[in-house]
Amino acid sequence: MNILAFESSCDETAAAVVADGRVIRSNVIASSVDVHALYGGVVPELASRAHVEAIAPVASRALADAGLALSDIDAVAVTYAPGLIGAVLVGVNFAKSVALAANKPLVPVHHVRGHIAANYLTHPDLTPPFLCLCVSGGTTAIVHVKDYTEMEVLGSTRDDAVGECFDKVARVLGLPYPGGKYLDELAQTGCDTAYPLPGAHVHDAPMDLSFSGLKTAVINLVHNAQQKGADLSLPDLAASFSKAVSDALIPRVLHAAAETGCRQIAVAGGVAANSRIRADLETACGAAGLRLFLPSLPLCGDNAAMIGAQGYFELLAGHTADASLNAYATRDLAQG
Ligand code: KG4
Repeated sequence: MNILAFESSCDETAAAVVADGRVIRSNVIASSVDVHALYGGVVPELASRAHVEAIAPVASRALADAGLALSDIDAVAVTYAPGLIGAVLVGVNFAKSVALAANKPLVPVHHVRGHIAANYLTHPDLTPPFLCLCVSGGTTAIVHVKDYTEMEVLGSTRDDAVGECFDKVARVLGLPYPGGKYLDELAQTGCDTAYPLPGAHVHDAPMDLSFSGLKTAVINLVHNAQQKGADLSLPDLAASFSKAVSDALIPRVLHAAAETGCRQIAVAGGVAANSRIRADLETACGAAGLRLFLPSLPLCGDNAAMIGAQGYFELLAGHTADASLNAYATRDLAQG
């Protein structure tokens, strides 16, 4: 079954064709990140305008790359939540029109469920149940994936998402936007014990996290050094920060595994590309006898192939929508 999928929740306009939830037949992404980099963050109105311009050509390219016509498509899937509302609306309205024109089912997909499904594309043998550490620009959560469309959030951040924290710390270190990957590169040459930083502990909630204290600690350290004219090693600070994030995430994943009895661990979202988190998870899961599934690097960030993968399973579960489908800025992952 071929699904034509769309993703437009932030600054990537993406379309893809995915077969049976597991095989990518095409995967096209047009990013407006260069425009937002001028402002140090995503400007929602500019993102929406870029989606309007890009979505039709991106859709045509996705069909052409797959060697298919619209009539060969079995369903149309689209991210309908969460995200920048104007941006999500562009994808939802375009997908509705395509589904109507092609007379095919319309499948709404939760963006974070899509990130989780990127693992089905990388690992054909991964089947639920498993735990998924979801780490992106907008989400930080440990999710129990009980079945393809049945999920429970076991713990999440109480304030900043981990990607947001990476980007703000990168900005204060003078790195370009979006800074996560630049900070990751810088950290690889630094000493991770040079700057002791606070953890992300939340009292009485062993699977929840709080990153605002860690972020503020780094920002204060940099500002204090600037005021005193003291030298800071940026690679050491990047490495110490990356270690603090990883040290916050990994024990919570292990705790969730012990609580649920899950022996399979997956990771999802843009921050799943982080080399420190990937390496530490490999070590920790190896030591605990847990099987680790990491999405391939190109599928960590926003893309439509992951929406096509999850769309397939949502369709099998009968989760379709009609032309009244709306876009939502926030939506509970467990609700779908
Ligand atoms: O999943 P994503 O593309 O968009 C959302 O759905 O939020 O995630 C984007 C986030 C940004 O904060 C970006 O800086 C971060 O993922 N990111 C990284 C790395 N690559 C991307 N953070 C840390 N290390 C990386 N290598």
